[in-house]
Amino acid sequence: MITPVRRNWSPKELFNALTPVMFTAEPSVLRTRWKKLWPELYTEYDARHLKEELSVRNLIATEEAAAFFDAWARDEERHAEGFIQIMELVADGSEKDLWERLDARSHNFSAINEYLKDEFSVMVMIAFDEMCTCHAYAADKSFYAGLGSNRFVRWLREVTADEAVHSMNAVNVIRARYSDRIGEVGTILDGLTSGVADESDYGGTFVLDYFGEKYTKEMLANCRAAILRNITKPLTTGERDGRSGRPS
Ligand SMILES: [Fe+2]
Ligand SMILES: [Fe+2]
Repeated sequence: MITPVRRNWSPKELFNALTPVMFTAEPSVLRTRWKKLWPELYTEYDARHLKEELSVRNLIATEEAAAFFDAWARDEERHAEGFIQIMELVADGSEKDLWERLDARSHNFSAINEYLKDEFSVMVMIAFDEMCTCHAYAADKSFYAGLGSNRFVRWLREVTADEAVHSMNAVNVIRARYSDRIGEVGTILDGLTSGVADESDYGGTFVLDYFGEKYTKEMLANCRAAILRNITKPLTTGERDGRSGRPS
């Protein structure tokens, strides 16, 4: 069985020397930071709802996919917790209030029904979505650099690398278990790239959160091409053992 790669780092350790007084700013700046960070937080948080939905619909069929989702869910929890810490530090957020806001949101998976047909379509959707998230975070460097500590730039590097690993781990499940269905991947990706959402259309599904100016048609096309490229490469022994999972 292939094993998912999981990177070892902790936002708690990364931010433990920082306090909110180091990042005080005008109310309008705090509001701008909040508006930017809140969707990042809730889309990360929504991973637990997607995982729950997959389990309710009984979609996980192989032990590779089960191992993928266990490692992935722990990372996405780490990302949500990190964003809560960042919002406390730079956007006047309170942990209790943020958890309450997160818990109050609703979730509707009907927009992604066609990708919740079977484990294969779920894995293609996740592989693509994680690649998009990786590219979107990578485009955010100036925002994090502008917050006033290199710890936030380091944070961005860590989350971006995690998202790249998620995409590659998902690709590896497809390469290991669904090599006979590689020919179907392009069509599934076409549907995903055409369904670009507006923030108000996002149903709390974790995936298809392609709102904001970073998600250009060109970026989505690049991610589509990267997935098709990665998916057709043969699995190496190291990837089978979970020793390497970086996309090219
Ligand atoms: Fe994430
Ligand atoms: Fe991810």
